Amino acid sequence: MTTKTHVVVFLLAVTSLLLTTATTAAGEKRCHSDDKAALQAISAALGNYLASEMDIPCCEWFSVDCDPSTGRVVGFSILDDANLTGTIPDAIAGLVHLQELVFHKLPAISGPIPPAIGKLTNLSLLIISWTAVSGPVPSFLGELTQLTFLDLSFNSLTGSIPASLAAIPNLSGINLSRNRLTGAIPPLLFSESPREAYLWLSHNNLTGDIPPEFAAVGFSEIDLSRNALTGDASALFGQGKPVHQIDMDLSRNGFSFNLSGVELPAQLSGMDLSHNAIYGGIPAQVANLSNLVLFNVSYNRLCGEVPTGGNMGRFDAYSYQHNKCLCGAPLANPCQ
Ligand SMILES: *[C@@H]1O[C@H](CO)[C@@H](O)[C@H](O)[C@H]1NC(C)=O
Ligand SMILES: *[C@@H]1O[C@H](CO)[C@@H](O)[C@H](O)[C@H]1NC(C)=O
Ligand SMILES: *[C@@H]1O[C@H](CO)[C@@H](O)[C@H](O)[C@H]1NC(C)=O
Ligand SMILES: *[C@@H]1O[C@H](CO)[C@@H](O)[C@H](O)[C@H]1NC(C)=O
Ligand SMILES: *[C@@H]1O[C@H](CO)[C@@H](O)[C@H](O)[C@H]1NC(C)=O
Ligand SMILES: *[C@@H]1O[C@H](CO)[C@@H](O)[C@H](O)[C@H]1NC(C)=O
Ligand SMILES: *[C@@H]1O[C@H](CO)[C@@H](O)[C@H](O)[C@H]1NC(C)=O
Ligand SMILES: *[C@@H]1O[C@H](CO)[C@@H](O)[C@H](O)[C@H]1NC(C)=O
Repeated sequence: MTTKTHVVVFLLAVTSLLLTTATTAAGEKRCHSDDKAALQAISAALGNYLASEMDIPCCEWFSVDCDPSTGRVVGFSILDDANLTGTIPDAIAGLVHLQELVFHKLPAISGPIPPAIGKLTNLSLLIISWTAVSGPVPSFLGELTQLTFLDLSFNSLTGSIPASLAAIPNLSGINLSRNRLTGAIPPLLFSESPREAYLWLSHNNLTGDIPPEFAAVGFSEIDLSRNALTGDASALFGQGKPVHQIDMDLSRNGFSFNLSGVELPAQLSGMDLSHNAIYGGIPAQVANLSNLVLFNVSYNRLCGEVPTGGNMGRFDAYSYQHNKCLCGAPLANPCQ
């Protein structure tokens, strides 16, 4: 998988945090007293985690970003601390102006995602990743109507993906990879913001079909790998998709459909379909996809000639191994 887009999305988030900090430096450094009180309560709930900062004006804290004109805390992040134990404090709800909230790489933070988070209705970015947080992906997250990016990856979340996420109008990035989620993908995810969607659901136990409604969504990146999804994934293909590069990983599922007839999006840059039950043949059009740098259809039930010409020289036999009856270069067996 290309990591480029991941980095871009994440950098956008981090950049906006940094920008807020930079502007703050020139203005008021002390945050609003209500926010200071909330920060003290958060600190207390986490074993006086922020105690060493209490004498510094709170808008200068590493973990805090303020709106320079109001002194209100709009960003809060706790990163990379293996020693921090406890749960996500309810006191977080006291930071009422919060727009960006990040808990990242805190392996000893556990317990559920508290309802307090659902009260932060101005949140546009919520990242709780690489923690021991468990319980469901709460359906109250659907009340965060300003949310544009939600990353709950690398936790121990269980249950199904709440349908309420589909109602968030500008939510364009969802990362729920590496949890223990079960059930089906909600049909209307991204129906409100279908133009440039990022979806990572890999390494869960999701079942069922890809929602047919996904045919209307322009995915720039979609990773459904290592689940137990089944049926026809061809709703993800077809022309009329966005002009961005598209990276698609559907590997290690139970997808079963005829690949011969699908129209691959012209901007496709990566497509891993390996370890499924896909049949038919490889569309000749694949040779025309100039952006395609990763192509893997191994471990399926495909037949017929491997397309040649164009960029096909980029792919070796390992992209095609273990199919029913594929033939021709770079495979060893010639077509009859
Ligand atoms: C989402 O999670 C995947 C792990 O499966 C990771 O590779 C990717 O970078 C994450 N994306 C973002 C934008 O954080
Ligand atoms: C975590 O605790 C250990 C042992 O008490 C200490 O050596 C280490 O510096 C602490 N790490 C952090 C990030 O505070
Ligand atoms: C939420 O954001 C809107 C628009 O930026 C702002 O008018 C409102 O005051 C904010 N609410 C809170 C509680 O920060
Ligand atoms: C969604 O984003 C658009 C464009 O940025 C903005 O005009 C609109 O107000 C947003 N909708 C909501 C509900 O925030
Ligand atoms: C998925 O389910 C199987 C069987 O119930 C289980 O063995 C496996 O650990 C689960 N995987 C994840 C990622 O939860
Ligand atoms: C797949 O579809 C093609 C037409 O696009 C058809 O000729 C072929 O028989 C189908 N293959 C199978 C295995 O159904
Ligand atoms: C590939 O591109 C060539 C040149 O643009 C075109 O003639 C041909 O029909 C295309 N093949 C497929 C299968 O799309
Ligand atoms: C394609 O996937 C198979 C199975 O996971 C793997 O063995 C092979 O190395 C992959 N080939 C390429 C070119 O990535």
